[in-house]
Amino acid sequence: MRISVIGTGYVGLVTGACLAEIGHEVVCSDSDAEKIKILESGGIPIYEPGLENVIPQARKLDRLRFRANPAEAVRAGDAIFICVGTPPLPNGDADLSAIDHVARVIATEATSPKLVVEKSTVPARTGQELKRALSVYGRKSSVTFHVASNPEFLREGTAVGDFLHPDRIVVGVESEIAERQLKEIYQPVLDRKFNCPVHLNACPEGPAPQWLVTTINSAELIKHASNSFLALKISYANMLADLAEKLGADIQEVVRAMGLDPRIGASFLAAGLGFGGFCLPKDLQAFVHLAERSGVDFSMLREVEKINKQRIDRAIEKLRSALWVVRGKQIAVLGLAFKPNTDDIRFAPAIDLVNRLLSEGARVRAYDPQATERARATLPQIEYATSAYDAATDAEALFIATEWGEFAKLDWGRIRDLMARPLVIDGRNLLSPREIRNLGFEYRAFGRPD
Ligand code: UGA
Repeated sequence: MRISVIGTGYVGLVTGACLAEIGHEVVCSDSDAEKIKILESGGIPIYEPGLENVIPQARKLDRLRFRANPAEAVRAGDAIFICVGTPPLPNGDADLSAIDHVARVIATEATSPKLVVEKSTVPARTGQELKRALSVYGRKSSVTFHVASNPEFLREGTAVGDFLHPDRIVVGVESEIAERQLKEIYQPVLDRKFNCPVHLNACPEGPAPQWLVTTINSAELIKHASNSFLALKISYANMLADLAEKLGADIQEVVRAMGLDPRIGASFLAAGLGFGGFCLPKDLQAFVHLAERSGVDFSMLREVEKINKQRIDRAIEKLRSALWVVRGKQIAVLGLAFKPNTDDIRFAPAIDLVNRLLSEGARVRAYDPQATERARATLPQIEYATSAYDAATDAEALFIATEWGEFAKLDWGRIRDLMARPLVIDGRNLLSPREIRNLGFEYRAFGRPD
């Protein structure tokens, strides 16, 4: 099919590239002309593993094109995926102005029938507003629009694999045509009929993805409900960690046993500095607002947010109790991205931690394998190290703020010798307490006995 993708952020770029990978003809567009220039010249403006294979491959086959002019993209596709940002407004609501703008462009520029697919994360009932906007802005045209919601469940860092091998594909539709077109688009994924990109090795064994057809309102609700539940699980694990510390239990042992119960599940129970990124925190806030506006008291989710914010306080308490005085001391921070395998620092707990350390008067020297350049732009006042060893040199404490795999494999004996004082505060429970203590470190973690 001929598909247009409007917005080439993490979601749009992965969606466009993967739709081309499975055989469609895709035109991606973005209002950021600089980004389009990078993509047109063969560059990739974000770090997302796998895109470096998928994008050049699709371009070689002439299935993926980039355009700065959204009108051109609108005219090119039979289906248009809206992947623009929905950032939080100061009151926590999602800012839907980019969606409104795209609706206007689609309504005024389309010259043939279009399936308009909402992929951006939006509050329930946005699809209804989108339908209304298309008909109001397009009142002078005779083009037919079918609106659908197709929420994404892509995780940054593994987004290409998540797109090509999802556990479910949710389509919220109100017409048979929309359902049929979406089925046609996703058929290669449902049948696993595409060449699996090299970095994924091969398509997984096991059941094919579930195809779930819902109403548009339900599809929108599924997305917010899923992300908020993931956030709830993390905050629950973090509360348990606080309790485990008081009771002398070990959170790792507790969640491991809990997770073996399939009703609970093992994932998203890792305690530590808490959740960040551009999805969970903002979706949680927007969801709480949506519930309040709908007259439903979802204050349970406010607690989830509160617990998450307290993680940084806990981290600073641990530092204070170990160092006594923080002011003037040099602290190493390993990891700035909101999670491993991404260069994204938006709402990253590591960035909050660095800001708190600075406000406590500490001197910070940080290292991240991918996010340094992005961090430099928002945090110019700290030093950036070229390696974990460089960050650790002369430090009186070292924080692990993001659990990059390479941090577990460091030569910790060398780190110990480089540090002014061998103190590790493990914000992601990455290291083995026994091993690191045997090396002579003072080690503090979250929910594990000191
Ligand atoms: C999240 C969801 O997991 C995706 O399903 C969804 O599609 C995406 O948002 C989105 O809405 O676009 P993502 O933001 O990439 O994906 O990040 P996650 O993997 O969910 O991690 C979020 C944060 O939670 C990270 O800061 C991570 O370190 C933290 N986390 C995760 C924990 O603190 N503990 C855990 O056990 C798991």
